[in-house]
Amino acid sequence: MEASQRIVNRRHLAGRSIGVLPAFLGTLLFALPCLAQAPLHPVPNIFKPLSTPADEIDHLSKFVLMITGIIFVVVFTLLVYAIVKFRARATDPAQEPPQVYGSSQIELAWTVIPALIVVILFLASARVIHAIQDAKRPPDAVDVTAIGHQFWWEFRYPNLGVVTANELHIPLSDPAHPTPTFLKLLSADTDHSFWVPQLNGKTELIPNRVNEMWLDPHQAGLFLGQCAEYCGTQHAKMLLRVYVDTPEAFSRWILSQQHPAIQDESVVAGRRVFETTACMNCHAIVGTPANGRFGPDLTHLMGRATLASGAALNTRENLRLWIQDPDAIKPGSLMPAMKLSDADLDALVNYLETLH
Ligand code: CUA
Repeated sequence: MEASQRIVNRRHLAGRSIGVLPAFLGTLLFALPCLAQAPLHPVPNIFKPLSTPADEIDHLSKFVLMITGIIFVVVFTLLVYAIVKFRARATDPAQEPPQVYGSSQIELAWTVIPALIVVILFLASARVIHAIQDAKRPPDAVDVTAIGHQFWWEFRYPNLGVVTANELHIPLSDPAHPTPTFLKLLSADTDHSFWVPQLNGKTELIPNRVNEMWLDPHQAGLFLGQCAEYCGTQHAKMLLRVYVDTPEAFSRWILSQQHPAIQDESVVAGRRVFETTACMNCHAIVGTPANGRFGPDLTHLMGRATLASGAALNTRENLRLWIQDPDAIKPGSLMPAMKLSDADLDALVNYLETLH
């Protein structure tokens, strides 16, 4: 290759590598507004606990990280020191250096110190486990039974007569007057795991077993979570939404949920479609003959922001698509494609849209 050509090539390459940076920045600038638009299910910040159990776990994790960090620094410092100071040199004698066996002092030190560290870590973990598992139950605690299904969540409030799905409402808990929510975790089929990082750690939902956890959120708002145990094809779209309401908003929500479904005579055709197809075998609508429990309770469907366990926004188009072809939203979901005629589908969606 000619020298001049090589220079041209090098300039060309340099130009290309400089061009990568604006391209990267451009992509970033383009991507930022998309991120700012808040996707349907943004990733919650696991480093910002907002509930007592999550806070305790966060403190313990940082403590363990600090101790293991110190061990890491000490071991690596000694290792680098030994490698550099005792490296092979050209002036070294040919034979092996003198071998030293057994120093009671050193052996005692490296047995006792790690044993002490393990005891400290054990005690710190045991304290947090005790504080979370054996927490006192205040009289105003709310009871919720959460049942994991492939691939959605059933929430039942046994003392309040409310059943809902996928979007859990719980009250804000004021530390001066705590109103924590105690969850009883069950499973209808296989193992799932309830995980809302900012409210508590993960707890499994296991068939034929009752697990428990509690949440006492110190901030109102929407908290996102996820099934954290592989439970089948749509495990990744088994999302969780926890709405932490002020006490007044929570009471209002409970009152609205206690009402049976609205009977709107203008959508009677759609109601007939619901009651004469397979819908009512799986779904319940309080105040109608539909009392299936295989799928989510639809009595107040329109009170939810999302469909299909957080997989899609609860809009008319998505609802229509979900009924006609669930695989288009959640391939492998257990909801069958209803294959209705356009007229029946529209009537059915009209009916479901009255379920506030
Ligand atoms: Cu349910 Cu993973």
